[in-house]
Amino acid sequence: MRRILVIHGPNLDLLGTREPAIYGHLTLASINQILKVQAKKDKVALVIRQSNHEGRIVDLIGRARKNKFQGILINPAAYTHTSVAVRDAIAACGLIVIEVHLSNIYSREEFRHKSLISPVAKGTIMGFGAKSYTLGLAAILDLIEAK
Ligand code: DQA
Repeated sequence: MRRILVIHGPNLDLLGTREPAIYGHLTLASINQILKVQAKKDKVALVIRQSNHEGRIVDLIGRARKNKFQGILINPAAYTHTSVAVRDAIAACGLIVIEVHLSNIYSREEFRHKSLISPVAKGTIMGFGAKSYTLGLAAILDLIEAK
């Protein structure tokens, strides 16, 4: 069975109450539930992790290949704009990585316009709220299938 790792970065555990005008009203648990339903339909195993800690995210990415994942769906959240370590881990991991964001980072503050992750991701999906994740999961499955 294909295995996909989903990583949610910092502060995404607060979804539901965190700036709902920007991030919507769905909690992280609801988004994860939607992803699990989609994964079940597509017969793919999902492992979902959230962390507020950069090193933990680096470790998850670094071990993903050994842990038999074929792809990673990641919302690096604020680390998108700051983390060379997360970027390097993605560049090194040898797996298909799709970057997702709930919001369109280019329609927001200027400091969000730079993603350190996009150049090393296979693709980026943003601006569709929770749908960014389901579109991302569909894309990653297509890519694994085509491999
Ligand atoms: C985010 C966008 C980031 O700029 C922000 O720091 C987040 C969430 C998004 O999903 O829209 O925490 O990644």
